[in-house]
Amino acid sequence: MTSPPLSGAPPHPPRITLADFHEAAREVLPTAVLDYLDGGAADERTVRWNAEAYQRLALLPRVLTGTAGVDTRCTLYGTDLPAPVLLAPTAAHGLFHPEAEAATLQGAAAAGALTTVSTFSTLTLEEIGAAATGPWWFQLYVQRDRALTEDLVLRARAAGATALVVTVDTPVTGLRERDLRNGFALPSHGMPANLAGGAAAPGRNPSEPAHGGIHDPRIDPAVSWSDLERLRSVCGLPVLAKGVVRADDARRAAESGIGVWMSNHGGRNLDTAVAPLTALPAVAAAVDGRVPVLVDGGVRRGTDVVKALALGADAVAVGRPYVWGLAADGAEGVTAALSALHRETELALALLGVPDLTALTPDLVGPAW
Ligand SMILES: Cc1cc2nc3c(=O)[nH]c(=O)nc-3n(C[C@H](O)[C@H](O)[C@H](O)COP(=O)(O)O)c2cc1C
Repeated sequence: MTSPPLSGAPPHPPRITLADFHEAAREVLPTAVLDYLDGGAADERTVRWNAEAYQRLALLPRVLTGTAGVDTRCTLYGTDLPAPVLLAPTAAHGLFHPEAEAATLQGAAAAGALTTVSTFSTLTLEEIGAAATGPWWFQLYVQRDRALTEDLVLRARAAGATALVVTVDTPVTGLRERDLRNGFALPSHGMPANLAGGAAAPGRNPSEPAHGGIHDPRIDPAVSWSDLERLRSVCGLPVLAKGVVRADDARRAAESGIGVWMSNHGGRNLDTAVAPLTALPAVAAAVDGRVPVLVDGGVRRGTDVVKALALGADAVAVGRPYVWGLAADGAEGVTAALSALHRETELALALLGVPDLTALTPDLVGPAW
């Protein structure tokens, strides 16, 4: 006989780390949805490298610095944030929680974090604007239909987005083999609300090559730097290019005043693409402080956050981890997952003997073995 739970006992063990939220998401999500969330392209080497790049680095703490407290605040494009951790854009939050992006935005705002809303959101930009109580940016997949593209950007600005993040690493979707095996296609509660005919599209177009997961044939593969410059003049917002991993591309972005968001799409597109952290020192040197440098992919611990900042990032972003929180506990789960990472970042600074983010320098990081 199983004993009844003790009165007042929590319904589950305390969730302390992002890994705990992963475990909780595993318990509630159907296998095909969990595979869509956690999976990557092909052999998923890049998914693993993203995390391993952090594990291969050791921290070199300084002692007797007289540091009494730490300050994790930072400012990005005029927005003050309590911690240098953003929410990376992830599609279709309706797959993970009935309140979809509304829960994400509310959970992020409660943690003081900035949310990047995907082109493939389940809610419309107007619903997102109404639900948002904190800062948010809009992530754009440039559509072949440029009038629709401009309309999306202007709707996002009108709804309250304060920057435009143009994803540049997805001319086509990667080979998502887990999705192919599961026959995964977006269900009706995950359909993108912002695209024309959203209820019927995109899912996987049967006439397209079977890439698996979300492949929208309306995404324009032929985007160039001049498109980003034109979009900036259309919306008047700061623009970042998401998916840069090369120093020459980063230099090109910086010359145009376009922010650099280093990413390989969480290992979901080009398998064996370099981990952003590995490429960060060269990119940071090429940018030389002219524009902000953000990094995502594999950030799971506060020590990862400080390593990225020590090597030249201005902030990091997380994708899967806050979706685990969303799936597990809705808005509260998002807040709790982000707060866990924030607490760990504070602790890492204190133990490193570093008072604030500006004092994170490359000498604090070395090879782990
Ligand atoms: C389920 C899922 C959906 C995603 N959807 C988008 C998207 O719509 N647009 C985009 O630019 N990136 C998208 N990404 C990539 C994330 O923005 C981010 O680059 C990546 O998740 C970071 O790696 P991490 O999950 O290891 O933190 C998605 C990632 C995941 C896991």
